[in-house]
Amino acid sequence: MSDWLKKKEVLIKRATEDIVNSRKTITLTGAGISVESGIPDFRSAQGLWSRYDPEEYAHINAFRANPEKVWQMLKEMMELVLGAEPNPAHVALAELERMGLLSSVITQNVDGLHQRAGSKEVIEFHGSNHWLVCLGCGYRREASSLSLEDIPPRCNNCGFILKPDVVFFGEPIPWEAQTKASEEARMCELALVIGTSAVVYPAGEIPIVAKKSGAKVVEINMEPTALTGSVSDYLIQGPAGEILSKIMDEIREKIS
Ligand code: APR
Repeated sequence: MSDWLKKKEVLIKRATEDIVNSRKTITLTGAGISVESGIPDFRSAQGLWSRYDPEEYAHINAFRANPEKVWQMLKEMMELVLGAEPNPAHVALAELERMGLLSSVITQNVDGLHQRAGSKEVIEFHGSNHWLVCLGCGYRREASSLSLEDIPPRCNNCGFILKPDVVFFGEPIPWEAQTKASEEARMCELALVIGTSAVVYPAGEIPIVAKKSGAKVVEINMEPTALTGSVSDYLIQGPAGEILSKIMDEIREKIS
């Protein structure tokens, strides 16, 4: 076994100990956790932002100026999400919650895969694709009724083009999500930071708040991030699905 693989195995055992011994563990997840479900992330080489300029497609001013154009990207994301299934990383986090070893999932993702994998305590920090909202009159409707044919969807009240209830750049984080996430970060003993570049704020603040509150911060990522070597105690480098599955095997063995 190569030195690199040996190091990864040692870190997987270390993370197993940290999770089993922590009285309160949270996780912050980003787009990387859904890559193994077939949904590209944003900032990796083949990420969404390599094809769509976020200023033109993901800022609230861009949506107000040209909603039809933004819906071109949203439609592509919808098709990816519709065809996606939870992967072993989502399933592992749901099992950790059932075992009483995970207090909450704070996710930046809007694909709903944590809930579909069975996680109950999910804080959707960037909103959710579950609802469509009207910027004109406040009308809301469930997105489940939306078919790809009627894109862009229009408000039944005032005819405005509806917006998914996700947080665009330039919009505030939902107050309840921000409050709950801050509380979880302050109270936890261990924060697992999985599949996020941690460059977008205020989500990127969550591991820092946890660290300042005395928690251990453990990253699972394909590559080092802005947190590595400064905020996080260690990085287990590799695909989240593979790493979390191995951690779950170690935990099951340990507590059986
Ligand atoms: N396993 C683990 N990590 C992975 C995997 C994988 N299989 N694939 C990619 N990653 C990592 C990448 O190395 C990267 O560090 O996931 C991270 C994804 O980073 P981003 O693409 O920046 O996504 P995210 O951090 O979620 O972005 C935050 O930015 O554009 C906004 O609103 C959007 O919620 C998003 C926010």
